[in-house]
Amino acid sequence: MIANTFVQNAWYVAGMAAEFETNQLHGMVIAKKPIVIWRTGEGKVVAFDDRCVHKRMPLSCGKILENGTLECSYHGFAYDAGGQCVAIPSQMDQPIPSRAKLRPFPVIEQDGVVWLWAGNPDQIGRARPPRTPEFLNDAYDSYTCDPIYVPANYRLLIENLLDITHFYPLHDGNIGDLANSKIPIEFIEQEIDGNPSVKTIRRVQNYRHPPFLVEWFGYEVVDREHTHCMMSPGITRVQLRCAPPGKLGTEHERGYILHHSHTPVDETNHIWRWTVTVRKGQPSLNPAKSSFETIKEMFPAVVDQDRWALERQQKMFNYAEDGYAEVHLRSDRSILTVRKILERLEKGQAAAPLQAA
Ligand code: FES
Ligand SMILES: [Fe+2]
Repeated sequence: MIANTFVQNAWYVAGMAAEFETNQLHGMVIAKKPIVIWRTGEGKVVAFDDRCVHKRMPLSCGKILENGTLECSYHGFAYDAGGQCVAIPSQMDQPIPSRAKLRPFPVIEQDGVVWLWAGNPDQIGRARPPRTPEFLNDAYDSYTCDPIYVPANYRLLIENLLDITHFYPLHDGNIGDLANSKIPIEFIEQEIDGNPSVKTIRRVQNYRHPPFLVEWFGYEVVDREHTHCMMSPGITRVQLRCAPPGKLGTEHERGYILHHSHTPVDETNHIWRWTVTVRKGQPSLNPAKSSFETIKEMFPAVVDQDRWALERQQKMFNYAEDGYAEVHLRSDRSILTVRKILERLEKGQAAAPLQAA
C-alpha cells in the first residue's frame, strides 16, 4: 500500500496562465522543490530553483529590476531570464563565478495553463501535459477557482475524484445521489499525451435525473454518459453529457466538463484547482439563469465537503497499520489501477499503460 508518496517525474500545474503577470515573482513548492517562477517581459514563463546561489535566500522574495533581471533581496545578486548570475554588486571588479547559475525547471504554457516538470528533465520522455482545449475555447464559459490548499496527499484527491460512490452520504444535500453509485462502470486504460491514464464510463438510458440535475440541465429523463479520467498524475477530467432519450450527440445534448488539477507540494499537502466549462448558452431549468451559473454556484460547497474528508483521511495515515487493511469494492477498480500506475511512475518506470487491476 503506497501512502504519503508522490510521482516526482510528472508535469504538474504551477498555475493558470492568468495567474502569472509580467515580472511578478511567485514562490512555490512543487513536489518538494522550492521554485521561483515568473513571466518575463518577453511573455515567457520561466522557473528556477528558488535558492539564491549565494546564501539560499528565496529569490521569490526579490524583485525584477528595470533591465529585466531578478535581484536577490539579500546581497543583490542579479540573474537574467536564463538563470545566469549577471551582477554581484559588492564585487563588480571580479569575474562572476561560473557556477553562479540557477537550476532551471522545464515549463510549458498550454491551453491557458502553466505546467512545470519538477523532476529529472532527462526523464520527460514522451510525457506531455495533457491538453485542456476547452479552457480557451470561445464556445465555452469557463471558471477556475482560486488555488485550494489541501493538507493531504494528492493521491487521496485523485481517488476521491474517480469514486462517485461517495456522493451519498458525503455530498448529501447537494449532489448526493445514491442511485448514481449503482450504475455499472466501464473501465478503460489508455495513454494520453504520453501519460498512463485510467477512465471510467457510466452510461444510462431513460434515466430519471435527481432534482439538482433537472435544475442544471432542464431535462427530467435522459440518456447520459458520465466519465472520470485521471489523464496524468497532475490532472483529472470529469465530463457529463446528457440529452432526452435517443438525442445524445445532437444539438439537444447538455452537460459540463470539470478539470481538477492536483499538484503535490510534498508528501502530505497538495494544491487543488478546479475548472468548470460549459457550452455557452446552455439553458438550465430556470430561464433567468444559465446552466453554467447554476453549476458554478454549486461546486464550492461540494469541494469543501471533499476537502473536509481528505484532511481527516490523511490524519489516519499517522497511525501504524497494526493489522489494518482496506476493504475494496467493485467500484474501486479504477482506484487500485491508479495506485499501480503512480507506484510504477514513482519508481521511474516507463509510462506504458498497465493491465487492469
Ligand atoms: S543570498 Fe542572495 S545575494 Fe546573498
Ligand atoms: Fe466529492
